[in-house]
Amino acid sequence: MSLESLKNEAKEEIEKASSSQEILEIYSKYLGRKGLITELFSKMKDLDFEEKKRFGMELNSIKIFITEIKERKLSTIKEQTIHNNLEKLRIDSSLPGDCQNVGSLHPLTTVIDNIIEIFVGIGYTIFEGPEIESDYYNFEALNIPKDHPAREMQDSFYLSNDILLRTHTSPVQIRAMQSLKPPIRIIAPGKTYRRDAKDSRHSPVFHQVEGLTIGKKISFANLKGTLEYFAKSFFGEGCEIQFRPSYFPFTEPSAEVDIKCIFCEGKGCTICSHTGWLEVLGAGMVHPNVLRNVGYNPEEWQGFAFGMGPERLAMLKYSINDIRMFYDNDLRFIHSFINS
Ligand code: FA5
Ligand code: MG
Repeated sequence: MSLESLKNEAKEEIEKASSSQEILEIYSKYLGRKGLITELFSKMKDLDFEEKKRFGMELNSIKIFITEIKERKLSTIKEQTIHNNLEKLRIDSSLPGDCQNVGSLHPLTTVIDNIIEIFVGIGYTIFEGPEIESDYYNFEALNIPKDHPAREMQDSFYLSNDILLRTHTSPVQIRAMQSLKPPIRIIAPGKTYRRDAKDSRHSPVFHQVEGLTIGKKISFANLKGTLEYFAKSFFGEGCEIQFRPSYFPFTEPSAEVDIKCIFCEGKGCTICSHTGWLEVLGAGMVHPNVLRNVGYNPEEWQGFAFGMGPERLAMLKYSINDIRMFYDNDLRFIHSFINS
């Protein structure tokens, strides 16, 4: 075979090749250690000086030519591979996106966060207590001795003789006074449990947010001012509230606070039991016996406390006429609060 056709054949084969591996194999077939062209170099020794020179130059120029073609083809294949890989990664921005469901906070979480925010804004800090409580913290220390008729106000779930699910967040008052030094300003949000029959305003599991202020020369006026400030911050300036004398063994005097029923605007309806008002919290001045129980001198320290029901507050704020809506987990209900 002539040198010329050997050269063309190598060129053609390299140009047809489709992988780097293939190119290197073809190159080696012609110019490897035992390649077809390499072997021709060994024939040079039989030629005379002039022919050797001419033949040598010719072989070298073929070698350079084929090597160049090989390099060019290798770099074309490399570029193509990069291009193909990029093509695979290409993002089609016109495709419709994956629809992600946006989660939302439960309306009760939002309301509790809102209550906390208002009190933290006026210097209260959060103090939490356990949901499983001893009889001592839930009743005794709060001036409710065994056989006291006030125990019937809060029908309880007992786990054993002495241990129960807390019926209110008031035991946290005792825990806070035992572990903090006065003056004290805390709020205690959390779950509470009572053997209350379910109806539109009662649930056996519900929430409370307790508040406790202990200081010097604290009066009922401070309690009233604080709760009025809270009600206006939570419901808006136009909100109407009333203080109704009440009784709690752990406060004296005691009051319950009602908000004007938003469902009937105070005219009376089934939701407010035809009173025109909805009870949202209990409150009062901390009873001297309670202060003594934690070793505080009632002559030196006074305070007020309150316990509010976030479910009741949320019902008023969002016009929800049945407390059970909060626990049914109907997503249509929960999603309606996404932007509130
Ligand atoms: C108490 O639990 C007292 N510990 C409140 C208190 C604290 C008084 C500090 C004085 C000082 P009462 O049982 O009224 O009080 O409950 C307080 C609030 O919890 C009620 O106003 C109501 O908003 C809410 N609540 C009570 N029972 C239920 C229930 N079964 N379901 C939903 N909310 C309830
Ligand atoms: Mg009550």
